Formats: sequence, structure tokens, C-alpha cells
Amino acid sequence: MPGEGNLNAEVMFVGEAPGANEDDQGRPFVGAAGQLLTQAINSAGVQRQEVYITNVVKCRPPGNRTPTDEEIDACVGYLFEELAMVRPKVVVALGNTAGSTLFKLAGRQWRGISAHRGKPVRLIVNGQEVLVYPTYHPAAAIYKPDLRDMFMSDVREALGLVRPRGRSRTLLDFMKGESKA
Ligand code: URA
Repeated sequence: MPGEGNLNAEVMFVGEAPGANEDDQGRPFVGAAGQLLTQAINSAGVQRQEVYITNVVKCRPPGNRTPTDEEIDACVGYLFEELAMVRPKVVVALGNTAGSTLFKLAGRQWRGISAHRGKPVRLIVNGQEVLVYPTYHPAAAIYKPDLRDMFMSDVREALGLVRPRGRSRTLLDFMKGESKA
């Protein structure tokens, strides 16, 4: 199951792997976690179609277990292609699998999502420089109000890195198709 969204997006969201709903529909983040992700994006005044949303692993691991290293290795080439195609400035890593995969690919040590969340870091991933912004996975944030608050504000902050707070879209931006300046 491929990612979806704006191929010129400045922000890419990377999750773990499709769940049952995503597997059924062939689209990423369409279940409960996806609804929270969409809500967080919208709370920043951004539409879901403006960003690009994908997963590290493109097939649903049986029983929703965490993907194995072999499954991640088998899929990482697709993520490289998505990164090369979209060329995002910011990559929001949703949870441990996305964060640890991106850090590992950049040769950096990963100390767990709680250590890294909310702290953007510049990484070279497959020769491409991106600002990686780790946050909790929305599925982890659904039932835990404290994680949920952090997740919502992290997503807003990550989106604000490319669209400074207070700046609204001008007609000129619209006419330029919000081209990356
Ligand atoms: N969880 C993920 O990591 N990705 C999805 O697409 C849905 C749920």
C-alpha cells in the first residue's frame, strides 16, 4: 500500500505499517489513528491533502504486530523513492518504528520515542537532507490524554516549521501553487 497526498508537500508524515482498515481501503491512516492524525493536521489550519502521508512498511504485518527488521529492510526502498519524489523539508516520524528507522538510516542512535519527541533533528537519509520531527504514534495518543496533547502540539509545531504561525496563505501563494520558495 503506497503513501498518498501532495507530491509537492513540504511535510511528509511517516507511520509504521497499514492496519486492518488501511489494508481494506488501500490508503494510509484511514482508521481511528488516521482520524486523530487528520484532526491534528486540521488543527494547524492545514488540509490532509496538502501533506504527504505514508508508512515505513507497506504491507500489514499479521495481527498488527510491530514490523520486523527484515520487513522494514524489504520496504525501505519505497520510502526512499517517496522521499526523492516529494522532497519534503520536514518528515514527521510517527512513533518508534518510523523514528528508529529514519535515525538508523542516517547512522544516528535512537533512544526511544519519549526521548526524541518534539525535538526536530537534521538527518541525511539516503543522501537527502530532511528535518525529522519525531512524535508519538497517533494510535498511542488516542486513549492517553497527556500523549494526545503532546501529539497534537507536536504536529502543529512541525507544520509551523514550514508555514510560520500567523502567516496565512496569500493570493500570490495560491497562484504560485504554494511553490517551495
Ligand atoms: N498505523 C500506521 O502506522 N499506519 C497506518 O497507516 C495506520 C495505522
